[in-house]
Amino acid sequence: PAPGWTVHADVVVVGSGIAGLTVALHYAELAPGARVLVVTKDVLSAGSTRWAQGGIAAVLDPADSPDEHLGDTLVAGVGLCDPRAVQTLVTEGPDALRRLMRHGARFDRDPGGRLQLTREGGHHRDRIVHAGGDATGAEVQRALIEAVRAAAPGPERGGIEVIEHALVLDLLKDASGAACGVTLHVMGEGARDGVGAVRAGAVVLATGGMGQVYSATTNPLVSTGDGVALALRAGAVVRDLEFVQFHPTVLWLGEDATGQQPLISEAVRGEGAVLLDDAGERFMTGVHELAELAPRDVVAKAIMRRMLETGAPHVHLDARHFGEEKWRTRFPTIHAICLEHGIDPVREPIPVAPAAHYASGGVRTDLRGRTSVPGLYACGEVACTGVHGANRLASNSLLEGLVFAERIAADLAAVRPAPGEPVDDGRAAGLVDPRARARVQGRMSAGAGVLRGAASLSEVARGLLDARWTPVAVEPCTESWETTNLLTVATALVAAAGAREETRGSHWREDHPERDDAGWLGHLDVILGEEGL
Ligand code: SIN
Repeated sequence: PAPGWTVHADVVVVGSGIAGLTVALHYAELAPGARVLVVTKDVLSAGSTRWAQGGIAAVLDPADSPDEHLGDTLVAGVGLCDPRAVQTLVTEGPDALRRLMRHGARFDRDPGGRLQLTREGGHHRDRIVHAGGDATGAEVQRALIEAVRAAAPGPERGGIEVIEHALVLDLLKDASGAACGVTLHVMGEGARDGVGAVRAGAVVLATGGMGQVYSATTNPLVSTGDGVALALRAGAVVRDLEFVQFHPTVLWLGEDATGQQPLISEAVRGEGAVLLDDAGERFMTGVHELAELAPRDVVAKAIMRRMLETGAPHVHLDARHFGEEKWRTRFPTIHAICLEHGIDPVREPIPVAPAAHYASGGVRTDLRGRTSVPGLYACGEVACTGVHGANRLASNSLLEGLVFAERIAADLAAVRPAPGEPVDDGRAAGLVDPRARARVQGRMSAGAGVLRGAASLSEVARGLLDARWTPVAVEPCTESWETTNLLTVATALVAAAGAREETRGSHWREDHPERDDAGWLGHLDVILGEEGL
């Protein structure tokens, strides 16, 4: 649709989690006077960041080293991490974290004032900082929102402006093919209601993940893959989509539970909780030297295997030995969630099962956050910087958001891109009936989830084709755009998962159960051309 209004900015940041807000803050500091616009689909705090429990991984203990953090990250990524990107992450991470603290984020400290560090799956050291016990993301989001509000522009100066309830639609490009803004659908924001456009010198995608492509996920409702879908329509290269991480321990709420499911942080295992099967047997000790603290894909697969063997729909996480006091002080959020659902973790093990958690792949970027489309950057879960490979190491995601956001801001400050004149490139999404959403999610969970094979993936691909069909003209609205985006990313994900005929990291092919380094030690890039994917 043609834009009804236009606003201008030097840089537009799409999304308001740790990645988006850090780009905005850092760029505003590096380029005083610049006008930065943050647009976000819901309110500023609605994305995934605030749900993060465990924490942020960073080398802060003198007994630890960036090399060890690098080593753990590479092992988790099973041969597909870009070592330069990981090196950047682990060496720049500690300072980026300190700058986050200067922006006001407060992390848990011991009585001597030192940051408390804990451990999670795949880490050989205690290197995870946390806040409020298990409410790290909420504290990070609070601090960043306050800092962004304080950087609001005045009449005579630049700064950070925010438009909420603004769903991004498509990228605007100039005649040279460079990004020069986005179109948006805004609701309830007065003069800027309806479809409008932002014209800007550069566009930063920080739209988060796509967990809603599955029926059960830890991701909030807003995680519908909007950034990846936009990037595909804009002709950008998208990489590693087959590597969707399933968190091993998500509170099991029944066979039919759908939508966002409560997470039981890895940090609970980091502090000594063990996994038990239906017969009360501990089963991780024989699977991996780190037992319950093995990398996430190893634990998720072992749980799935045990569930298939026993026929039980979940396993149990036993942390009764923490006792009331530790549950209340160290894990207050999880404790409250369990009680809310009628489970007292002091008296009984918690029923848990894997659910979709994190997209390790996304829009391909270089070390400055640049995508394959000039002027278009990507940061955070929407991006594929190369730090996660086939499986992300726990608590590396908030860190990635911080480190690469600062790099993008530095690149923008060096380039100071000027906006071009948008031209119509003729690409437009055919809108999908919002009623297809549940069907897409159901099919993805049934055939392209933790376990997948050629037959199940072909079945899903057929189902996704059917979901495109709509008996009536579809009205443009948030629900139809989101469903369109979900279908676009699901189709790309299934294509990549079908092509990779091996098992690696979080991609588990039942029909190709072995890792195949001779054939598959490389990446799958997806591009949407005139002919489709
Ligand atoms: C968790 O707390 O288990 C989640 C941490 C993460 O996804 O990195």
